[in-house]
Amino acid sequence: MDLWSYAGKRVVIAGCFSGIGEAAARELVRLGAEVHGVDVRESAVPMASFRIVDLKEPAAIDKAVEEIGGQIDGLFNCAGLPQTFPALDVMKVNFLGMRHWTEQWIPRINRGGGVATIASNAAYRLQQRLAQTLELVATPDFASGLAWCEEHMGLVADGYTFSKEAIVVYTLKRAAELARQGVRLNVTLPSPVATPMMRDHFVKVAPKEVFDAFSEPVGRLSQPEEQAYPLLFLNSDAACFVSGLAMPVDFGFTGGVNTGVLDVQKLIAGARAG
Ligand SMILES: NC(=O)c1ccc[n+]([C@@H]2O[C@H](COP(=O)([O-])OP(=O)(O)OC[C@H]3O[C@@H](n4cnc5c(N)ncnc54)[C@H](O)[C@@H]3O)[C@@H](O)[C@H]2O)c1
Repeated sequence: MDLWSYAGKRVVIAGCFSGIGEAAARELVRLGAEVHGVDVRESAVPMASFRIVDLKEPAAIDKAVEEIGGQIDGLFNCAGLPQTFPALDVMKVNFLGMRHWTEQWIPRINRGGGVATIASNAAYRLQQRLAQTLELVATPDFASGLAWCEEHMGLVADGYTFSKEAIVVYTLKRAAELARQGVRLNVTLPSPVATPMMRDHFVKVAPKEVFDAFSEPVGRLSQPEEQAYPLLFLNSDAACFVSGLAMPVDFGFTGGVNTGVLDVQKLIAGARAG
């Protein structure tokens, strides 16, 4: 058995129209996986199947899972909305719908298989409000999670950072709970990436200095492929003992923050002043 291979693997990917998800889907197809994709926009990647699914709609999620059916080896969660959309829609796609979708797939994941989800390094300070995030994660389903968000709009704010913190905390918690079933869950925290989300949305909500700060210390955006490869590793057999990992894919950003080499707020302020 080739631990690094996807030949003969059956995988599902959400968010395969553009950006990191498209890059991941292309690479999975190239590596011989049977890939089933969903997105709100039709993907051009030649996959085994594709369905239009809006992650804001739990009923559409249930229908797609039923239709794709069967057992899978890996689930790739690459869909996401930026904060240019209404905050509750952002929470629905990035956390509530993503969680509902993942929970529907978990019973269908083969032992040793995994879930690899994209969060963001926007979640780098999640410890600061972990108690509240755990409260949201403890809501049992989409509707109760949405009600919790509506009651906590101060925390939710524009939805982006909080949804990313929630999906990280959910992943870590479920990884511990599902370990004995042999299902692995991991999440990546990318630094800024050159995708349509950056080009069409993020640049509208924050000045360039903010993305420059989050791109430190390497000093450039990552490419979608550079974010896709770690996801493929996390769901491969080579990562068979890796679960519950919130993995920065940021060329030193998190390490720099944690060791005091980088002070993000100072970087942003300094860049603005200079
Ligand atoms: N681009 C960045 O700088 C950056 C940085 C950190 C994290 N991320 C995260 O990476 C992930 C992928 O984003 P990207 O940068 O590739 O951007 P992208 O906009 O190219 O990709 C997002 C994908 O999600 C799909 N999508 C949007 N709403 C959906 C819905 N309701 N249901 C199903 N699919 C939906 C889009 O059609 C698209 O294919 C997102 O979760 C994003 O938050 C991006």
